[in-house]
Amino acid sequence: MKIFIDSADLDEIRQAFEWGIADGVTTNPSLLKKAVDKRVSKGESLDLKSYITQILETAGKTPVSLEVTETAAKGMITQGLKIYEMFNAVAGNVNIKIPVNPAFQNDDVTHFDGIQAIKTLTGKGIPVNCTLVFTPEQALLAAKAGATYISPFAGRVDDDLRKKAEMKFDKTDYFSAEGTIHEDMLLEDNGIVSGIDLVAQCVDIVTHYGFPSEILAASLRNTRQVREAALAGSHIATLPFSVIRDMLKHHKTYEGMKLFTNDIVPDYVKLTK
Ligand code: G3P
Repeated sequence: MKIFIDSADLDEIRQAFEWGIADGVTTNPSLLKKAVDKRVSKGESLDLKSYITQILETAGKTPVSLEVTETAAKGMITQGLKIYEMFNAVAGNVNIKIPVNPAFQNDDVTHFDGIQAIKTLTGKGIPVNCTLVFTPEQALLAAKAGATYISPFAGRVDDDLRKKAEMKFDKTDYFSAEGTIHEDMLLEDNGIVSGIDLVAQCVDIVTHYGFPSEILAASLRNTRQVREAALAGSHIATLPFSVIRDMLKHHKTYEGMKLFTNDIVPDYVKLTK
């Protein structure tokens, strides 16, 4: 499974690439705002074009998702083309992030504008990351439209299930891939029992029909979810920096290090340093 860093924070992105385990970057408007606000609050004046350029250079040949902010098909296509034209020249690694359905409740944007924009941009050879996927059928339509990456939001599915059941939880709390029994019933929404279940169903669909799209498990908030995304066969997991960092932690590893360090034979060190 490839690991992308889900961040627009240049320091975090640089660190993940220095560790040598990052296979790409995903950003979204909220992540960009967080990164920009952090810099501005430190009194830095930020040139956004050069900031994004540095992200792309750091990612090198690995893919970076940059999201559109327009919501109608025409606007998303025009903006997607502009983003691609402006930034893909830097390192040849840009993909355009498009919501599967950009409509708000009852606005005049049609529900298929995202799909139309994906189809048009991929038709021009521009890779697209289809975002905000919450059902396997949305994933199926995104695959049919030619999305390179399809991003089911696992953590937000778990939030939704727990909210509906009026459970108390913290955003990063583990929620079992197999789902949870609540009031003697398996908690589910339209046949989805957890965020990882959604990821697994999306993987099954693209694999079953041989779509070239890759499933990019998103909105993952803890390390056990990463494990379950990998076991579900997700092609990619995009992770916050904190989750990447947590993946190597274990108290027995720390304890083992202390024991080995206490037992070091000085001559061994002399011989090998
Ligand atoms: O990649 C999507 C991600 O940034 C959303 O995460 O934790 O806000 O649901 P979250």
